[in-house]
Amino acid sequence: MNILAFAASNSRTSINKALVTHAADLLKNDIVPDCSVELIDLNDFEMPLFSVDKEKSDGIPDAAHQFYKKIGEADALLVSFAEHNGNYTAAYKNLFDWTSRIDAKVYQGKPAVLLSTSPGGRGGKSVMAAATGAAPHFAMDVQASLSVPSFYDNFDMENGKLSNQEVQAELKTALAAFS
Ligand SMILES: Cc1cc2nc3c(=O)[nH]c(=O)nc-3n(C[C@H](O)[C@H](O)[C@H](O)COP(=O)(O)O)c2cc1C
Repeated sequence: MNILAFAASNSRTSINKALVTHAADLLKNDIVPDCSVELIDLNDFEMPLFSVDKEKSDGIPDAAHQFYKKIGEADALLVSFAEHNGNYTAAYKNLFDWTSRIDAKVYQGKPAVLLSTSPGGRGGKSVMAAATGAAPHFAMDVQASLSVPSFYDNFDMENGKLSNQEVQAELKTALAAFS
């Protein structure tokens, strides 16, 4: 099983990248030992701000085609959403909007486990609601989801691991959707 993993954030110090990296390690080491995980970084898919005018004049950027192809080649998706003002980050929304011009079914029917985290007590629950609510419209088959609240209280940044064992157990349960 090939899993495509990413944080829907372009922050170089993304806490969602830390969480999805930890989740990918857990998946490979404890849950689906024969899986392979490709972890991509949104900064490698930077492109102009979407506009219908730019689309007409310059076409869809190569990076959007590459992202769409990566989803198509994967068996499943593992995504951790950063929340900005209750929704996707502008970086992810831009990538998503461009990719949707290739195919509205951006996620191509792939099964997915969705995560989110933030320093606050809701852990990105609003962006998670947006992502899970929209999933069927964009052909994502959500298998499980988990919002990790109060990131810095529950995650050991030095070791790149959840420090809260209850949350760790919840993450394992969510990831077991891939087993
Ligand atoms: C513009 C902006 C808006 C934000 N809005 C929210 C929000 O609505 N809810 C929330 O929990 N955190 C919010 N935050 C804090 C983010 O959760 C925090 O910056 C987090 O580190 C983002 O995830 P990332 O590190 O993976 O990019 C916001 C941060 C910024 C910069």
